[in-house]
Amino acid sequence: MLGLSLLISVAATAQQTKGGKRISSDLFGLFFEDINYSADGGLYAELVQNRSFEYTPTEQKSWNPYSFWEYTTTGHSYGKISVETNSPIHPSNPHYMVLDIEYIGKEAKFTGVSGVGLKNNGFAGMVVKTNEKYNFSVFARQLSKEPVSFNISLQTPKGKVLAETKFTTVSTDWKKYTANLVASESDENANLVVLATSEGKVALDVVSLFPEKTFKNRPNGLRADLAQLLADMKPRFIRFPGGCLAHGDGLGNMYRWKNTIGPIEERKEQRNIWGYNQTAGLGYFEFFQFCEDIGAKPLPVLPAAVSCQNSGNTWQIGGTGQRALPMSEMNEYIQEVLDLIEWANGPVTSTWGAKRAAAGHPAPFNLQYVGVGNEDKITPEFEQRFKMIFDAVKAKHPEIIVIGTVGPSPDGEDFEKGWRLANDLKIPVVDEHYYTSPEWFISHQNRYDTYKRNATHVYLGEYASWGNKMQNAIAEAAYMTSLERNGDVVRMASYAPLFAKKDYTQWKTDMVFFDNTTISLTPNYYVQKMFSANQGDYYFSNIISKDEKDPSQAVSCVQDSKSGDIILKMVNFGKEAKPFNINLMEFGKIASQAEQTIFSGSSEAENTLEKPNTVIPTTSVIKIKKVFDYSAPAMSLTVIRVKTKK
Ligand code: AHR
Repeated sequence: MLGLSLLISVAATAQQTKGGKRISSDLFGLFFEDINYSADGGLYAELVQNRSFEYTPTEQKSWNPYSFWEYTTTGHSYGKISVETNSPIHPSNPHYMVLDIEYIGKEAKFTGVSGVGLKNNGFAGMVVKTNEKYNFSVFARQLSKEPVSFNISLQTPKGKVLAETKFTTVSTDWKKYTANLVASESDENANLVVLATSEGKVALDVVSLFPEKTFKNRPNGLRADLAQLLADMKPRFIRFPGGCLAHGDGLGNMYRWKNTIGPIEERKEQRNIWGYNQTAGLGYFEFFQFCEDIGAKPLPVLPAAVSCQNSGNTWQIGGTGQRALPMSEMNEYIQEVLDLIEWANGPVTSTWGAKRAAAGHPAPFNLQYVGVGNEDKITPEFEQRFKMIFDAVKAKHPEIIVIGTVGPSPDGEDFEKGWRLANDLKIPVVDEHYYTSPEWFISHQNRYDTYKRNATHVYLGEYASWGNKMQNAIAEAAYMTSLERNGDVVRMASYAPLFAKKDYTQWKTDMVFFDNTTISLTPNYYVQKMFSANQGDYYFSNIISKDEKDPSQAVSCVQDSKSGDIILKMVNFGKEAKPFNINLMEFGKIASQAEQTIFSGSSEAENTLEKPNTVIPTTSVIKIKKVFDYSAPAMSLTVIRVKTKK
């Protein structure tokens, strides 16, 4: 059998796409929300938890600025610690820790390093690897006349030193100190120990430790393994920062993008709507940078100047918690939306473009889409504010495609009101959301067949069937063929939520489960990847024949006009193998071999962190003709990628 590389070299130059229906080239992308510890403790590679001493009981009742820090004294030393707020590094980052080192032990019998300091175990243990480099940084302000010396180390839970370095304060103003630590051994439960080794008084803030090996080695970067699995999907866009996180739990909790850019010590941490702290270290700059790094379009979703209707847990009483920004604040808010566009796309000579350049990105980010609102209740307050924002963006930036919102369900009052508004205002795209059963996905494959073609388009911004078993993923696959078929009206789609950390999962059905060392890719991930990495921009009907009366069979054929590749997808949600016939006569010359990926398994099969590879797709090279039969295994998705020739 020929190897894949040979197959690709046989492919020659792509042929021009003839016929077919033009469909969206941005169809399959990603939804990222900081839910289930997806950002801090997850994709964001920072290893220190509560690095800026900003945790509060409003996040979790037992939390405070000392949380996740252990006061430590060694060698009979003593002193005291306090959290203070006088002259912080920046008003957005008000708390810092003061170490008052009264006495450094000098007992000859103690052979370790004597001192007074702090220990941090990160997000349930810091993972360090042999010979890998870790970048430490801290802001310190010397409060005593005498400089204060520090020993910084990575230690095992039993106190074995894996790496260490030293520094001494040189300023009575806030100053950043940095050092590299190279771990001598691997440990999955390491601590960072910041130990003052001389007497004096010093303030500390933003104590940070990053692996050098982040995704693309970016500073303040992303966990390489998690970022890579997203890159592997070749998503056409990434939506961020949510979800409900975008509109927030009350007005004060809205995600305000300006709080999330600039140096990390100047960013504003806040309570995450999902019940923990959000450092905003993974902020707008990092989201945009990541999109660029993996060739995805950025899709920021901004609040429509109203908070989540479930604010204050009012989902228990019918979602009466939506609050709207007062009209007196709307001009300022609208400016904030316009400033985002300038920040992303404006020249370096513009106020906000200059801030992007200062962060290291003088070139524009080519922002095309801006979401306004997230499944909001369509109230008069919402409508009024949405219209103000929409009109202002349209007037100043007609090139930007605004995405509106039509509530949290596939139908019902908000859905209807949202669509009415979309039609009235001629909103280019609206965001539909639905989480429902696999059977619903199977029986609603014709949902978009009857949508008006030359009107508002759809962004299916959040969807998933209830579960991470094979049957859930394959039901979604069947539905996704209908999204391709309707790719002239469905412009974008993203499964939700994306990540979930073990022991910190708030939302049951997710695409990728992980802990500090292991990743479990769900069947849903593999289905998303098979579609996302195999997108086309032309849809062809009648290429694959199937039993039209059987809803458990679904098919689609697209062509990617850049490569000329024809991509066939066949789904079998049934319990037995099903026959399909493929006829490629309407295409010109094709290669005689194709790449075939089959993903099949029992309906109940799923992957877990303990058994991550129970069901995985397999790829091989097959011989094909212009007309051929294919028998799809029970509960399966098959993708066949065919090269075309001149
Ligand atoms: O994806 C999880 C949540 O589901 C999102 O935050 C919200 O938009 C939806 O209700």
